[in-house]
Formats: sequence, structure tokens, C-alpha cells
Amino acid sequence: MAFVAGIDFGTTNSSAAISNGGTPKMVSLEQSFDTIPTALYFPNNKPGVYYGRDAMARAIDNESIAGYNDKEEDNGRFMRSIKRALGTNLMTSGTLVKGKMLTFDKIILYFMRHLKEKIDMAANESVESVVVGRPVHFVDNDLSADQRAQDELKKIATDAGFKNIEFLYEPIAAAFAHERTLNEEQLAAVIDIGGGTSDFTIIKLGGDLKNKFDRSDDILANSGTRIGGNDFDKNLALAEFMPEFGKGTLYGGRTKYEPVLTVPVGHFHDLSDWGRVNLLYTYKNINNIKKCLWQAHDKERYGRLLEVIEKQLGHKVLSSVEKTKIHLTDNDMAHVVLDFLSDSPKFAVQRTKLEESISPLITKISGIANDCVTMAGIKPSDVRLVVLTGGSTEVPYVRDVLCNLFQNAKISAENKLASVGLGLTYDAMRKFKTR
Ligand SMILES: Nc1ncnc2c1ncn2[C@@H]1O[C@H](COP(=O)(O)OP(=O)(O)OP(=O)(O)O)[C@@H](O)[C@H]1O
Ligand SMILES: [Mg+2]
Repeated sequence: MAFVAGIDFGTTNSSAAISNGGTPKMVSLEQSFDTIPTALYFPNNKPGVYYGRDAMARAIDNESIAGYNDKEEDNGRFMRSIKRALGTNLMTSGTLVKGKMLTFDKIILYFMRHLKEKIDMAANESVESVVVGRPVHFVDNDLSADQRAQDELKKIATDAGFKNIEFLYEPIAAAFAHERTLNEEQLAAVIDIGGGTSDFTIIKLGGDLKNKFDRSDDILANSGTRIGGNDFDKNLALAEFMPEFGKGTLYGGRTKYEPVLTVPVGHFHDLSDWGRVNLLYTYKNINNIKKCLWQAHDKERYGRLLEVIEKQLGHKVLSSVEKTKIHLTDNDMAHVVLDFLSDSPKFAVQRTKLEESISPLITKISGIANDCVTMAGIKPSDVRLVVLTGGSTEVPYVRDVLCNLFQNAKISAENKLASVGLGLTYDAMRKFKTR
């Protein structure tokens, strides 16, 4: 029997599984890892592209490979959060790679082809049928952009070599994977908060339901929003990191005719955003910042912004922000050292500051979760099981706020990394009738 596959193309991490009738098996996407960071690195001075951890190591972790003064591999183009381009005009406008404009559909195709190669290797055949996961909304409040995003992803999967392509909401996939261990039927809320989106589903799971062919009656409601861990990083960066680069400081006022102004804020927003940081590295930005720096009141801090842009260190800043956020999951305080900058600034970030900075996002996410309950026509107290999935449900504040909505529910948070990929493959088995 031919193999079918499920692909969880995530904003931050991707995974895949295959089956030819038996229990789905995760595909080793990078060495022996079941997941691969959704990241690419195009070196400038040699052909080829690196993926996943390898791309991250070259672009972020190992300065001797990707650093400013490196002779072997100069500063190439590193990319993360490519999924967020789907449905937006970035798909056709693109970004500069190796001196040429590369549109995001091509960049995502590189990644999808890489996943297909690994899937085919694991199956030992060319896999043609796939269920690809999708967030409930790629783009908020714009149904045509949302449909466009799915069409774009379908075309990319076709160009990568798949012939039969279906889609399933990511939280439903997580639910299907989870219910394998549920003997009794239960009303569940699935909460999937990843890097790019927060998705919810209210669904009946377990017992005999899991053997039913058509599950549409069991899915009571779905909701989602384009807010995820990338946005937590952005808010934390703007609140706690960007002041170290001069955000909020002044320039001008050297003569009584020269106004005193706050330094432009746009650069700080781009430097805090995984999807926009590459756009910072232009001569125009460098010149504008130099003009401002000349009159800056805090040359030490604002000078760091120039250094980051000139040396293309933005991803290192963002990576440090993300590490700080993750450290604050288990600790009340993080000590940050930005040792890739020439003056190695050091500062501390309290967990309460992270919580303050992301609080408006959590309020929005929790509102979207409540919408799901309302649309399902149930009361929160009817939910007996909460399935937590997605890396951002690790943030204690997120977990507390969302779990508090469902007072009568047992919380389950197992197999977070693999659940969506596995669930998509169960669905592929159903849809392509391999069982
Ligand atoms: N221990 C942790 N504490 C806080 N955040 C974490 C932790 N581990 C991972 N994250 C965050 O989880 C996010 C990635 O989660 P995940 O891999 O589920 O996303 P994804 O599936 O790629 O994204 P999406 O489903 O939104 O497309 C990142 O923002 C990462 O920083
Ligand atoms: Mg995900």
C-alpha cells in the first residue's frame, strides 16, 4: 500500500509523519530529530542553502561561521517565520537573497522540497498524498487573504511533487493524535499556541468516535488569531531590549533653533520582528541612523543600533530575546549579555516584565478562546479535557490564563512537538483511505 504523509509546516518548527496503513511514524527531518526549525540560511559566497538547526547554527549561534568578520562564509541571508508571508504581499514582493530578489513562494518551496525529500527517504518511495496542517486563520479578518494563503501553500506543495493535497486545521490534528489514548468519549478544548498563531477547537474525542470515518459532526467550533510566540518576542524586545539600543532617547537641540526629538521608532519595530528584521539592512537605514547618531543624546545606546544594522546582527538580538523568554518560563529573572556587540551590554529582565509586555496579547488570545466556546454553544464548565499544544503554551502566564477558563477540565500536555504531524497523518489515512 502506498504511503501517505502529514506535514505540520510551522512558523517556528516543522514536523512530518508517514503511514502505509499502520500506526503513523514520525519522519527524522534533521539527523535523528523529529522536528526541524522552519529556518533557512543562504550563504552569500557559495551556492546552496542550509536548513533547520544547521541554518540557525550558521546564522545565529556560531559567530565564527556567520559573523561579521568571517572569511569562510560571509553574512548570508537567514530566514525564519516564512509561514507568516502566506496570504500577504510578501509572497510576490520578496526579499534580497544572494543579490537577487527571491519571492517568498520560492523560499517556502525550498523548504517544502527539503521536507518532501526527507519524507520520501523515510518511505523509500515518492509519497504523493499529503494532509498539510493550517492555522484556523493565516490572516485575521480577511477571508480572501486567508483562502489565498491556503491556495499558495497548495501550489507550493504541488510544485514540491505532491499530487493529492488536503488541509486540516492544526488544532484538530492535535486532537486526533491525542485521542488515540482516550478510552472514553469526552468534550475537549484544544489550545494550540505556536510561533505564529493561536488556534482553538472544541471537539468530541475518544471512545468509539476515533474509529468514525467522518468526524465533522464531532467538531463543534474552531477559532484562531495570528498571535503567537513571535509576537511575545516582539513585545518583550520592544519593552526590555530596545531601550538598550536607544529606543525612547532623544536627539537634536544642539542650538536653540534645532528641535529636540525622540529617535525614530520604526527601526526598533523591525529589529523586534522575526519577519521584518532582514528589511533593516539597507544603506538608507544606515544613513538615516548615522545622521541621527550625530545628534543623539545617548550615543552609547543608539550607537548599538547602528552596529547591529551595519553588521547584520538582528537575528542574534532576536535569538537572545527568545532565549530570555524561554528562560523566564522556569525562572523569575534572566541575566542578558549581548556579547556579540562591541561593548557587550548586560542587563536583567524579570518575569513580571515579560508578563506585562505580553498581557494585551494574552487578553486577545483568551477572547478568541472564549469565542470558540460561544460558537460551540457550550459552557466552559462542560469541557472535561484541555489539550495543550504548541511551544508557547509553556509560558506559565499563558497556561494559567487559558486553563483557568475551563475549571472542570483535566489538563493534558503530552507529546507537544509531534502531535500535529501525527494527527495530520491519521487524517491522511482517513482521507486517502489507507485503512
Ligand atoms: N519553554 C518555552 N517557554 C516559552 N516559549 C517557548 C518555549 N519553548 C518554545 N517556545 C516558543 O514556542 C514557539 C514555537 O512553538 P511551536 O513549535 O509549537 O510553533 P509552530 O508550530 O512552529 O508555529 P505555528 O503553529 O504558530 O505555525 C516559539 O515562539 C518559541 O519561542
Ligand atoms: Mg504549530
